[in-house]
Amino acid sequence: MDAKPLEPLYDGHGRPITSLRVSVTDRCNFRCSYCMPAEGMDWLAREDVLSFEEIERLVRLLARMGVTDLRLTGGEPLARREFPQLLARLAPVPGLTDLSLTTNGYLLERQLPELVAAGLRRINVSLDSLARHRFLELTRRDALERVLSSLRAAEAYPQLHPIKVNCVAMRGFTEEEILPFAEFARSHPYEVRFIEFMPLDADHAWDRDSVLSGAEIRTVIETEHALEAVPREPHATARTYRFADGSGAIGFINPVSEPFCADCNRIRVTADGKLRTCLFSLHETDLRAPMRAGAGDAELERVLRDAVWRKELKHHIAEPGFRQPARTMSAIGG
Ligand code: 5AD
Ligand code: SF4
Repeated sequence: MDAKPLEPLYDGHGRPITSLRVSVTDRCNFRCSYCMPAEGMDWLAREDVLSFEEIERLVRLLARMGVTDLRLTGGEPLARREFPQLLARLAPVPGLTDLSLTTNGYLLERQLPELVAAGLRRINVSLDSLARHRFLELTRRDALERVLSSLRAAEAYPQLHPIKVNCVAMRGFTEEEILPFAEFARSHPYEVRFIEFMPLDADHAWDRDSVLSGAEIRTVIETEHALEAVPREPHATARTYRFADGSGAIGFINPVSEPFCADCNRIRVTADGKLRTCLFSLHETDLRAPMRAGAGDAELERVLRDAVWRKELKHHIAEPGFRQPARTMSAIGG
């Protein structure tokens, strides 16, 4: 297979594209209210989902165009059959320096040894409540203990550190979780990051008032603990703070109140092989059809460059006229 580097991938606003998120399935064993409806999701048909060969082909081509970071998402990626085999195919792709996974943690513990052996380097575990009944209310699954147990199991693998825990922050729900999560971050080797709720939910319950901002959460934490800002790395979505007494760190991903589109380096491929150049894209570019029609790498490269060139300048959440994309987060990949 050709591994020759190609011209780096840039969008029309001059941003280099170095980060790729691939959703490997739209299915999930949870039903988080900010993502999916309780019932009645239409799943993709199996033949519509990219095969491991197709995913590997896209990743190899994009890595030759300068993509260095690959994150595998879902739905729930660990719900895809033989997922560790996919990871093992992707880990050795030349040019990739980071290979990570976003998971709800439910199936993580038993797959961990295999995932690490296959080359996994980083994990983000979604965890939105530390109280059993509230976790159940939000995810519609009674699985808090199981997720915590997966996190503990992950601690044994130094390769996976720092382990990140993502908590979606919603007004009317997350307030009670703030101080418990601060304690959790201080007493575990996990970096907890609060993510502002975005309009990507199936129920269309999002409105500007339902966003509990990172600044509000930080104010609450600072009533109990002094925080020190850690300098922001380029392209980082999180603003990270250390607890001033030295125990642990906490982060804030503030896409609504402090958009970080200006240095966005990310593109996404959905489970059915559509390129999305923004979480909030209203337009997608089909990569599966040309691949299945026999397109060569040069042709696929042209399709990718052309779509990436038109990458959105920024999202328009909370501006008049904002339109929520038809896909939910589970069908896009976080
Ligand atoms: N707003 C913010 N974050 C979300 N996620 C899922 N849906 C939303 C939303 N509407 C998060 C999940 C997970 C990642 C994939 O995206 O909690 O951490
Ligand atoms: Fe599943 Fe993640 Fe969506 Fe929750 S947020 S339903 S875990 S895909």
